[in-house]
Formats: sequence, C-alpha cells, structure tokens
Amino acid sequence: MLNNKIPRKSFLTSLSLVTGATLLPSLLRGGIRMPDNQELIKCGPYLQSPRQNQVTIRWITNKPVYSWIKFGESPTQLDQIQHQSTDGLANANTTIQAITIDGLKPGKIYYYQILSKEIIDFKPYKVTYGNTYTSEILTFKTLKAAGDDAEIWILNDIHDRPESFQQILQFHHPDADFIFLNGDMFNWQKDEQQLVDHLISPLVKAAGANIPFILSRGNHETRGAFARDLHAYFNGVDEKYYYSFTHGPMYIIVLDSGEDKADDHPEYAGLVDFDSYREQQKQWLEKELQKKEFKDAKYKIVFSHIPLFYAGTGHGVQHCRQLWAPLLNDAKISVLISGHTHVYGLHPPKAGEHNYPVIIGGGPLDHIRTLIKLKYDKTGLRATTFNDSGTQLDSLLIGA
Ligand SMILES: [Fe+2]
Repeated sequence: MLNNKIPRKSFLTSLSLVTGATLLPSLLRGGIRMPDNQELIKCGPYLQSPRQNQVTIRWITNKPVYSWIKFGESPTQLDQIQHQSTDGLANANTTIQAITIDGLKPGKIYYYQILSKEIIDFKPYKVTYGNTYTSEILTFKTLKAAGDDAEIWILNDIHDRPESFQQILQFHHPDADFIFLNGDMFNWQKDEQQLVDHLISPLVKAAGANIPFILSRGNHETRGAFARDLHAYFNGVDEKYYYSFTHGPMYIIVLDSGEDKADDHPEYAGLVDFDSYREQQKQWLEKELQKKEFKDAKYKIVFSHIPLFYAGTGHGVQHCRQLWAPLLNDAKISVLISGHTHVYGLHPPKAGEHNYPVIIGGGPLDHIRTLIKLKYDKTGLRATTFNDSGTQLDSLLIGA
C-alpha cells in the first residue's frame, strides 16, 4: 500500500472534473461548528503507527467512500492533501479508511481534517459520488527524535470491558506519546462492531483522539471468527504482529507470543500454527539483536503478551521461554513488559533466568487492573505502575 501526496491544485481540479463537486465548508448549526455529513462516519479518526516522521490516520465509515486528508503545520493552513493508493489504484469503495502520512518532522504538532466522499454507484465507466464528510480540525504529534524525552503508557488484559479505559485513564493527564496495548483487549474476535464498541471508540474517548495507540496481539486476539481480519483495522509495522521500532532512547521489540496452549489442543480445531510462528520470530529476533541500532540503543525494551516467566507451565510460556529467553539474556535487554497472567508483578532480575526486570500488568477486574508508564527524561528511564484508582504501585529506574 502506498500513500501519495497530491498537489493541492491538481487534486481540486481533478475532483471537480470527475464529480462536478466542490469541497463544502463545515456548516454552522446552532452556533456550533459541526462536521458535514456526520452520518457517514462510524468510528474515528484514530491514530496508528506513530513514528518520528510518519503517522497513520484511520477511520471507519458506514458506507463505501473515497477518502483523503488535508493537513499542515497550522490550523489555518491545511495546505497538503494526501490519499492512499495500492497498485496504482486510489483506495476507494471501502468502509475501512487508512492513510499514512510520511516525510514529517519529529516532535511536531500537525493539524488535519479527514474527508470521505460517499460512492453511491461504481460502474465501470461512471462513478457516482454522494455527500462528503469533512471533520473538524484535529491534531497529531510525531514522535520526538532520539535523545529527547519520551513517554509510553501500557495497558493490557482489558478483556471486552470498554469502561475500563476511562476508569484507568481518568486519573492521568494525557501526556503519553502513544498507548501500547499489550494484548487481550478482547476475549475473542467477533466482528467489526466489537472493535469499534469495545476498543477504538472508548479508548479514543478516554485518551483523546490525538494520542496514537498500538494494538499488540495477545492470545485472545487470535480467537474467534474475526481474528483473521484484525490486520485491516490496525497498523504495527510491515503488516506483521512482531516488529521493532525506536522511540527516543528506546529500541522497542514487540513479540507475538501466540496462543497459550499447544497447537493440537482441541480448542483450536486444527487451525493454528504457533510453534512454527514462534520459531520464525526466534530467527527474526536473532537478526534484530545483531543490529547496530539495537546495540547502540541506550534502552532495549521488549514487549510480549505472555511473559517468559511467572506464567505457569503451559505450552505457550514454555515455548516462548525456551526460544527467546536465552537470546534476550545475552542481548542484555533493559526490561520485559508483559500481561496475560492477570496478576500484577514487578519481578527484579533473577540471575541465570532473566538478567533484567520483568513487569507484568494486572487485569481485567476492578482493583486488579493496572497502568504502566515508561517515562524517559534527563533523570533516566523510569517504569511507574498504577492501579485503577490512580494510586502508584511501584516506581523502578530502568538500567541503561
Ligand atoms: Fe488476558
């Protein structure tokens, strides 16, 4: 999938040539500036894949549309326009919208509007457009450059309890550069409406539409009829669930620990293949740990939904530990952050097993849920954990 910047003048000309339409300004209704044609929008926008020089803006529509974004460095000058295309075709006639903007400056606030034009009829030689939705002006901020301060918030094991986002986040000023969802946001995957009602809408409402989030897969996200459709709604990196990226002084590795039982367990009906998937990640991890950027990074952070320790004796945890733990030990990672057990714990380094601390977030019930903050400033990188009443549980200075 490619994202294409379009010269503003030619874009407006082509729109009016093709459709005879012009972009309508937002209307004033009852003195309040409202977006046009709100009924076209089902959900969003929500921000994905935050990077120093890019972001992906996503939203879901109720009808098939063609979408684009206007953006710029000032709210009064949205002078750049971008849509997304794949194999030479502009993405269109779909209800799932995703537009990646790249070439941005690090640590900078940008202003944007999303626009979606309804496609009423799509004939081979004539496309009939309907109304255009134009959002209010919103903001996103690119990640800061290496060396600057950085702050990541981590949630895990929400398990289809959408009210949890507000209950946990209400005690915290929204300072996160992004929120990392460390698996099991759901019990299983049912359909698109579940993604909207149990994750995207309540999280955007609780955290703010200007804070990106990254969905990392837990074992429960691999279950259910809709599990194979998640890719269409969320961005990691390279369309995979395991990947790496840098943020400030942190090199971040995200592993996908897969299911917790053996592949031949009757629950999975012969439809999973996680042993070979975890082996594949081992090979990828070996290469990651040899990269100069990894070795040079001040902090080396690893996320895995299933912790490699303190998670019982099931096949998933044993297999993850056997494959990945020796590599992570040798690579002298700074911290492993997990969920899955539903039991909060901050486990100090244990010689011979994990020479780094392991933090496991709690959940999903009241008083068990946690928020983990990873914050870097001139004093160093600190992990601070909170319960869902906003009370601090622990504060740990992470070794460089
Ligand atoms: Fe869980």
